[in-house]
Amino acid sequence: MNRLTEYMLPPARSTLAGETDALFHFINVTSIILLAGITIAIIYFSWKYRRKSEDDVTPVITHNAKLEITWSVIPLILVMIVFGWGFTGYMNLTTAPEDAYEVRVVAKSWFWEFHYDNGNMSIGELNIPVDRPIKLVMSSDDVIHSFYVPDYRVKRDVLPNRYTSLWFEATETGESIIFCTEYCGTQHSNMDAKVIVQTQEEFDRWLEEGDSVDEDMPPAERGEALVTRNGCTACHSADGSRGVGPSFAGLWMDDRTMQDGEVITADENYIRESIIYPNEKITEGYDPVMPSYEGIISDRQIDDIIEYIKTLE
Ligand code: CUA
Repeated sequence: MNRLTEYMLPPARSTLAGETDALFHFINVTSIILLAGITIAIIYFSWKYRRKSEDDVTPVITHNAKLEITWSVIPLILVMIVFGWGFTGYMNLTTAPEDAYEVRVVAKSWFWEFHYDNGNMSIGELNIPVDRPIKLVMSSDDVIHSFYVPDYRVKRDVLPNRYTSLWFEATETGESIIFCTEYCGTQHSNMDAKVIVQTQEEFDRWLEEGDSVDEDMPPAERGEALVTRNGCTACHSADGSRGVGPSFAGLWMDDRTMQDGEVITADENYIRESIIYPNEKITEGYDPVMPSYEGIISDRQIDDIIEYIKTLE
């Protein structure tokens, strides 16, 4: 059974995953037994009651109370078991424990942002402590996304203008993958992130230090790290290939035609404005789909990103 479970499902790494899997297997096994039983009965009866001679006439049977009660009551019991089991499981999944650690989740096309209780923020990586209930309070800045961690068996839609929440408790340290599981545009398939589960001490240390980019790095290298960490590379390539947005390669000081016909040189001010107010000026041939990074990328970090883009001529 364990081998079969591993073959059919991703590893179970949350406290409630086992319960969800048990119900899944119950429904699966019941269905297989019923399917096999009914198929065998049909084949057997069609052989047993086949017409044996010319005057072999089918008897007229109008009803059979015993049989009818049996085939009504057994499915009723099965369905009630599945309902009761599923309902208690659903209630457990939707009611977070009082002492849960809360993380704010903001979905944007096409990345995930995580805000922690001390003001720290991470993009594309949800850091959490092991063996502690985690409550996610989620919202979207644009369209409907959906937060899904297969290893934890949790999934919930993330909506604009409304909060949704879910909770889980990771049972082991390590990494699990987060998927966006609601089609949200061209880069939907790349809208994934990681859960990084650490011990409480490791998590506390991470929360204290944050994802601070090394101060000793040269600005251009720091810029490259920032561009990766903030999810920019999902839409902007560094090799000149066309993405959802214009490539960073060859951008610096290039003359670009905007949608309204205006020609703009891609200098510091243009790049800065494109990060903070991305939809002010749209390059011809592209769509206004980039989210604003106001309050996410600081002015110093914009300097680093400009230095990085300069290296990609
Ligand atoms: Cu976000 Cu699909």
